[in-house]
Amino acid sequence: MTTKMKLIAGNWKMNGSLAANDALVKALLQGVGAPACEVAVCVPAPYLAQLQSLVAGSPIALGAQDLSAQPQGAFTGEQSAAMLKDFDVRYAIVGHSERRQYHGETDELVAAKTAAALANGITPIVCVGETLAEREAGHTEEVVKRQLAAVIHVNGHCISEIVVAYEPVWAIGTGKTATPEQAQSVHALLRAQLHHAANEHAAGIRILYGGSMNAANAAELLAQPDIDGGLIGGASLKAPDFLQIIAAAR
Ligand code: G3P
Repeated sequence: MTTKMKLIAGNWKMNGSLAANDALVKALLQGVGAPACEVAVCVPAPYLAQLQSLVAGSPIALGAQDLSAQPQGAFTGEQSAAMLKDFDVRYAIVGHSERRQYHGETDELVAAKTAAALANGITPIVCVGETLAEREAGHTEEVVKRQLAAVIHVNGHCISEIVVAYEPVWAIGTGKTATPEQAQSVHALLRAQLHHAANEHAAGIRILYGGSMNAANAAELLAQPDIDGGLIGGASLKAPDFLQIIAAAR
């Protein structure tokens, strides 16, 4: 059993301002100390330069919320992996359900974005998760395994370099968190799928939980054997809450 550090990543989504970011990150830096887990904040692209400067030399790594599958060219509005590297970006969220829903991102596009991140030394946080309708129809396992399978066969890169985030869509932003048992059962499925595909490498792949994780429920979720951290939305915008979640990840 490898002892891998947990990862707590904040997904700010389309929130923030230069002033609010400055206040939030300074409060995080004041309280984060020497965390027992890895910490990252995934911020809107316009703020990458500001965050690069704010977190430089700190225990907080910088992440992006998306990236282009293309290396460069006529792709208006997109950011390439190489551009993200210019700002010392270490992680990139890929295939978030909000992008799958609002931007029609397919499993194939998510796989291509995963490959682009890996090819540029950025760790992709690949999101998988079922909708409420899919869960109620008993399709959870089929959906998350299909979404993960798409990236397991990214050619040319060992999948041990990825992070997976299980985010049940019905728990995102709703305050309706998956129970620790619900989350663990899906994480165990994903772990088994990774083991089958990557043998000994699988043990090093972190599977984060996302979907209304907060200061009150983080410890119980993070105590589950196959939950290796969290991808945090709303609670990452509040320094005391995010710091409490970080403190619970040991
Ligand atoms: O990517 C993390 C996000 O989808 C979870 O959001 O607000 O439910 O923690 P939230």
